Amino acid sequence: MGRLDGRVAFVTASGGAIAGATARLFGAEGAAVCCVDIVEKNVNQTAEDIKAGGGKAIALTCDVTDDDAVKNAVEQCVTEFGKLNVCFNAAAYSEKRHRLAEMPLEMWKSVIAVNLTGMFIVARHVIPKMQAAKGGSIINVSSIYGVVGAKERPAYCAAKGGVRMLSKSIAVDYAVDNIRANSIMPGPIETPRLLARNPSIEAVVERHGTRLHQKRLGKPEEIAQTALFLASDDSSFTSGADMVVDAAYTAF
Ligand SMILES: NC(=O)c1ccc[n+]([C@@H]2O[C@H](COP(=O)([O-])OP(=O)(O)OC[C@H]3O[C@@H](n4cnc5c(N)ncnc54)[C@H](O)[C@@H]3O)[C@@H](O)[C@H]2O)c1
Repeated sequence: MGRLDGRVAFVTASGGAIAGATARLFGAEGAAVCCVDIVEKNVNQTAEDIKAGGGKAIALTCDVTDDDAVKNAVEQCVTEFGKLNVCFNAAAYSEKRHRLAEMPLEMWKSVIAVNLTGMFIVARHVIPKMQAAKGGSIINVSSIYGVVGAKERPAYCAAKGGVRMLSKSIAVDYAVDNIRANSIMPGPIETPRLLARNPSIEAVVERHGTRLHQKRLGKPEEIAQTALFLASDDSSFTSGADMVVDAAYTAF
């Protein structure tokens, strides 16, 4: 028996590394999964992987900053699977490093639009479906950089801190509807996204130095396991929480 049997999950950014691993785990644990991403080929692949493993999935190509497109994707999910119980949000813009004064305004706007406003837009469309289903779980991916500062990433830090507080706000307002909301704060995870800003995984390990207490990066599957806990009834009294998954990176 799966830990998400009978649930329907809407997973944004599931063409990517962390949300892709999460969508596959949710599918393996019995959820019907709506895989959502702006990149069609990647999101199709994730849905195919879930189906190849015996699970139920559909792929939807959608930009989370487009209110109408998200509304339609949520409707398609409910039309296909009858309801919506779980939402995992992870879309993020890949920006270049700049200190604040050198950051182009358009870059700031793009990061905030995808990383923060996108989560607001998804939440505003999934919440009524969760109310109709008499409850649900929203899991927003923040970052350790929503907790501590990062060099030359002002927009990312601001957005991820915002995601953390957005989740708490949802948790407080919608507890009455049996809807829980939590943030996950991953430490550095071995993903292609990191390679967009760094020459190699080894260089990332070197740069983080003694803060990587296990002397390694995390794996997308290690974040997916935390998401599974938050999606399932195992976390029934967990809401408004900051789930830091960083092998003690921010602990000292
Ligand atoms: N990789 C890390 O070390 C790390 C650490 C902390 C937090 N995070 C967070 O985890 C989440 C997932 O990161 P990842 O490493 O898997 O990155 P990734 O680049 O593999 O995945 C991000 C996905 O978001 C999608 N996306 C981008 N813009 C979109 C939009 N407008 N609409 C819909 N989809 C869009 C991309 O197509 C991509 O598939 C992000 O929110 C990231 O900030 C990652």
